[in-house]
Amino acid sequence: MNVLLLGSGGREHALAWKLAQSPAMGQFYAMPGNPGIAEVAEPVEGVPLSAHQTIVSWCREHAIDLVVVGPEAPLVAGLVDQLAEAGIAAFGPTAAAARLEGSKLFTKELCRENGIPTAAFARFSDAESAAAYVRSTGAPIVVKADGLMAGKGVVVALNVGEAIEAVEQVFASGGQEVLIEEFMEGEEASLFCLVDGETVVPFGSAQDHKRAFDGDLGPNTGGMGAYSPAPVLTPELEERAIREILVPTARAMVALGAPYRGVLYAGLMLTASGPKLVEYNCRFGDPECQVLMPRLASDLLPILDAVARGNLAQAEVAWSPVSALTVVYASRGYPGAHQTGSDITGLDTAGAVDGVLVYHAGTKKIGARLVSNGGRVLNVTAVGATLQEARDRAYEGAGLIRWPEGFYRQDIGWRALR
Ligand code: AMP
Ligand code: GLY
Repeated sequence: MNVLLLGSGGREHALAWKLAQSPAMGQFYAMPGNPGIAEVAEPVEGVPLSAHQTIVSWCREHAIDLVVVGPEAPLVAGLVDQLAEAGIAAFGPTAAAARLEGSKLFTKELCRENGIPTAAFARFSDAESAAAYVRSTGAPIVVKADGLMAGKGVVVALNVGEAIEAVEQVFASGGQEVLIEEFMEGEEASLFCLVDGETVVPFGSAQDHKRAFDGDLGPNTGGMGAYSPAPVLTPELEERAIREILVPTARAMVALGAPYRGVLYAGLMLTASGPKLVEYNCRFGDPECQVLMPRLASDLLPILDAVARGNLAQAEVAWSPVSALTVVYASRGYPGAHQTGSDITGLDTAGAVDGVLVYHAGTKKIGARLVSNGGRVLNVTAVGATLQEARDRAYEGAGLIRWPEGFYRQDIGWRALR
C-alpha cells in the first residue's frame, strides 16, 4: 500500500515511525515531513498543505492508496472531501465532520441537542449582552471565541472584570460571537477514539501538561509533555465517557448527514458528577500521539485504512501492557519569541537508552548538522513497565541530548505519580 503522510511535527514522526513498521507498507512519502520522518519516509517538499488540488494530483501521479492527515487545518478546510471526489482514500474527517473541532459553537449546540454532558453555555453576538450575562452569573467563568484558535481562544476568568475584558477582546479582534461557559472543576484527561460512522473504538488515553514551566506554571503552550494511559481515566470512567459522550456524538453526526471518520480526540473534565466534554479535536494530539504509538501492539496501517474505507468494525486493535511518557524539548523562550538554527547532538546516545525513542518535532538538517527549527523541537519518549520507569528512561534520554539553547520541564507526569 502506497501511503502519503501529511504534516511535519512530532505527532507525524510518531505516526511515521509506527506506519513504517507495517508489512503492508509500499512506497511511503511524507509531505513535507522532517529529518526524523525522513529516516522512514521519502520527503516531498514544496507543496503547502493548503494546496489541495496539487496534493490530489500528486497522489494520482504517485498511485497513493491512503493519505494520512496529521494536522487539523487541512481537515477543517476540506482536503479529505477533495481527495474523496478524486477517489483517494484518506484517514481523517470531511470538513462537515471536522466542525467538531473547527467550530466550538457547532459542538456546543450538538451537545445541547443530544444531551451530551458538557459545561452549560450561552452565546452572544454583542459585547454588552455578554457582559451583562457575566455580571449576572459571576466568576469563575469561561470565555471562548469560535473557530480554530490554536488553543488561544479560551480565557478561564477568575473574576468578572477579567471575563468582561476577555469578551471585549473577542469582538475587538473581529469575532462575531462569544461563547460563555460554566466553569467545570476537576482533573482533565484526553480520550482518543477511532470513529467510523456509528462505530466507536477506544484508542487510548493520555494527559498532557499545557503550561511552559514546572509546577504547571507559566504561559500556555501546545503541550510540554504527556503520558499514556491516564491513570485518572479509570476503565469505568472511560466506558462512561464513551457511552455518554463519544457514541451519542458519532450517532448525531450520522443523523446530520456528516458521519465522522477518523480519530476523535475528546478533552474531558472529570467532574464530581462524571466526565464532561471540554472540547473535541478532529486529529491526534501533539504530543499525545507520541505516547500512544509506542503502546500500540497492532499494525497501525490496516487500522487507519479500515477507518478510511468504512471497515473499522473489522480492524484489530491491541495494546501492549506498558506505559509511555514524553518530554518536550523546546527552544528557550517558547511559547514566546525564540531563536532557531542552534546545533543539537546526542540523539543517537539518547535513543540507545532502553525503551527510549526520540521524535523530531521542529528540526532541520543543514548538511550533516541537525539544528532547531521551531518552538517544540524534540519529543524524548520512553516506554516502561510502569509510568515511573517510562519517566526515568525519558529523562535519562533527555539528559544525554546536547542542546544548550533548549529547555524542558523536569516534572512531566507529576499528577499521575504524586
Ligand atoms: P479548549 O480550547 O476548549 O480545550 O480550552 C482550553 C483549556 O481551557 C482546557 O484545556 C481547560 O483547561 C480550560 N477550559 C475550557 N473550558 C473550560 C470550562 N468550561 N471549565 C473549566 N476549564 C475550561
Ligand atoms: N496537546 C494538545 C493538542 O494536541 O491539542
